[in-house]
Amino acid sequence: MSRPIALITGASSGIGAVYADRLASRGYDLILVARDLDRLRTSANALAGKYAVAATPLSADLAKPEDLERVAQRIREDEAISFLVNSAGVAPSGTVLNSSEADLDRMVFLSVDVLHTLTVAAAKAFSARGGGGIVNLASVVALMPEKFNGSYAAAKSFVLTLAQSLASELDTKDVRIQAVMPGFTRTEIFERAGVDSSGIPAGMMMDVGHMVDAALAGFDMGEVVTIPSLSDDGLWTTLDAARHALAPHLSLEKPASRYMHEVAAE
Ligand SMILES: NC(=O)c1ccc[n+]([C@@H]2O[C@H](COP(=O)([O-])OP(=O)(O)OC[C@H]3O[C@@H](n4cnc5c(N)ncnc54)[C@H](OP(=O)(O)O)[C@@H]3O)[C@@H](O)[C@H]2O)c1
Repeated sequence: MSRPIALITGASSGIGAVYADRLASRGYDLILVARDLDRLRTSANALAGKYAVAATPLSADLAKPEDLERVAQRIREDEAISFLVNSAGVAPSGTVLNSSEADLDRMVFLSVDVLHTLTVAAAKAFSARGGGGIVNLASVVALMPEKFNGSYAAAKSFVLTLAQSLASELDTKDVRIQAVMPGFTRTEIFERAGVDSSGIPAGMMMDVGHMVDAALAGFDMGEVVTIPSLSDDGLWTTLDAARHALAPHLSLEKPASRYMHEVAAE
């Protein structure tokens, strides 16, 4: 019997590379997507040898629309693909005001547009195939936007919101979607962004293998949102309950009384 295939973006390094290892150990064949073909080939050969799976490197610069479309088309057309991990991403090198607009645009395109295109392609394809899984890398900064580069935090909020909304739509199709919310995780991302990570306290930086293992445990438990470092999951439940408590107040005929002094009398 042929094995299911997991397609992983950002598979040449860091979180994506660990997902490739763990999904191969779970019996998936792999399609490994990133720009660096040499690294992808080395990783594919190593994983094929270690787990006796088929691992295919797929070189793509996802910031280029034609490369993005090639990967999306692969998801649509290859019936064996039933798992997608969106891990391709870059970090900002500073604050919004200290960054070039071109760098911020590239970062947001990769985190939002690319992830959205591949997620929708997978959601439709997996629904038609009767099931599958989508894991999208968000970040805890989506919950603490005041503490980080706003373009990055807003892009990661998109990833969180997309999962929260799509989860219920996909539920009826046996397709699972998860937003993974890592805090600082030890990968190349800081060095690549030219950021000195030596000042980040060791107690705030998770080992990348531990992060991915915890996130996969959260996926297995059926979580739509997984915060690997959060021991007291009641804190998340409380936040989510407070959000839902807003629901009856969010769309009403009349403005709130505290704004009424500006509302023209009819
Ligand atoms: N590490 C953290 O502290 C942390 C925390 C929260 C969230 N995250 C998120 O987790 C995800 C993975 O980050 P990481 O820490 O694993 O970073 P990483 O080690 O730097 O890996 C990033 C991956 O993205 C790929 N990539 C970058 N630009 C690309 C492009 N234009 N086209 C295709 N692939 C591209 C890179 O491969 P090539 O260079 O070969 O293309 C690499 O495989 C990101 O979305 C990041 O925002 C990370």
